[in-house]
Amino acid sequence: MLKGRHLIEPNDFSLDEIESIMQLADNIIANPEGYSMVCKGKLLASLFYEPSTRTRFSFEAAMLRLGGEIIGFDDPNNSSVSKGESLGDTIRTIECYSDIAVIRHPREGTARLVSKFAKNMPIINAGDGGHEHPTQTLTDLLTIRKFKGGYDNHVVGVCGDLLFGRTIHSLVKMLSRYQGVKFVFISPKELQMPENILNLLDDGIYKETTNLDEVIGDLDILYMSRVQRERFVSEEEYLRLKDYYVLDKKKMKSAKKDMIVMHPLPRVNEIATEVDDDPRAVYFTQAKYGMYVRMALIAKLLGVEDKNDKCI
Ligand code: CP
Repeated sequence: MLKGRHLIEPNDFSLDEIESIMQLADNIIANPEGYSMVCKGKLLASLFYEPSTRTRFSFEAAMLRLGGEIIGFDDPNNSSVSKGESLGDTIRTIECYSDIAVIRHPREGTARLVSKFAKNMPIINAGDGGHEHPTQTLTDLLTIRKFKGGYDNHVVGVCGDLLFGRTIHSLVKMLSRYQGVKFVFISPKELQMPENILNLLDDGIYKETTNLDEVIGDLDILYMSRVQRERFVSEEEYLRLKDYYVLDKKKMKSAKKDMIVMHPLPRVNEIATEVDDDPRAVYFTQAKYGMYVRMALIAKLLGVEDKNDKCI
């Protein structure tokens, strides 16, 4: 039962609970009209302390498409945060007005901290610093399910900024819970996967390389990511590493015919726009699935009912 729960990191939910969200997302995609009023009278608070396009817009679109309403900010300076109000007081106040809240914050651990203050309001982590981004993981799972038929036994290449990429940390933790998944971590030495994530993985299920060309032909899924400028201490170091990988048509020629290219977006230069028309490039469809999976998540956490009074 997901009603009333928080989602701070993907491991907060069992695989059965994740599956129930995916099944509901499938149902919503098949019949969006059938879910267009299930959140009528419910309010989502959208609290973005960091910039966002996909996560914020898809959450807000999700709530509106479920018949609910939204309040919130995308610039905390327009709230009493600018007068020095603490996160705890902000959340306790927002809970007086809202049924569910989604929060993005630049500091790791903030979503977990905030969830301690919310007594009756589910908190959804929309990204906390370089830590986790669990709803991007749900988006990624739905995309893999739709394009590859399931999650087991894939060879997944994860390429780019593996050090700071929170979408990557969440996705790797999640996919490692499925059978037979193998990872190829492709990054510059300076941006390798952190030890704390590697330590969670069984021996033999991953290898590390700096060379995308050498491994692209082995992959079922290639998950590209941008170098996270906002997490670098040195601008010079960012400029040196930002274009380390550029996926282009030439590289795609070496990939399997049914490999898919995913990216949480935003993209900077790491995928040339000439790849966008390749049928294996699924990143904009992935962004669309983000809205459907967030509709399913909101409905589950609120425990709303269908027209037959059954919890959906
Ligand atoms: N994927 C993702 O988190 O994108 P935004 O930063 O635009 O929300």
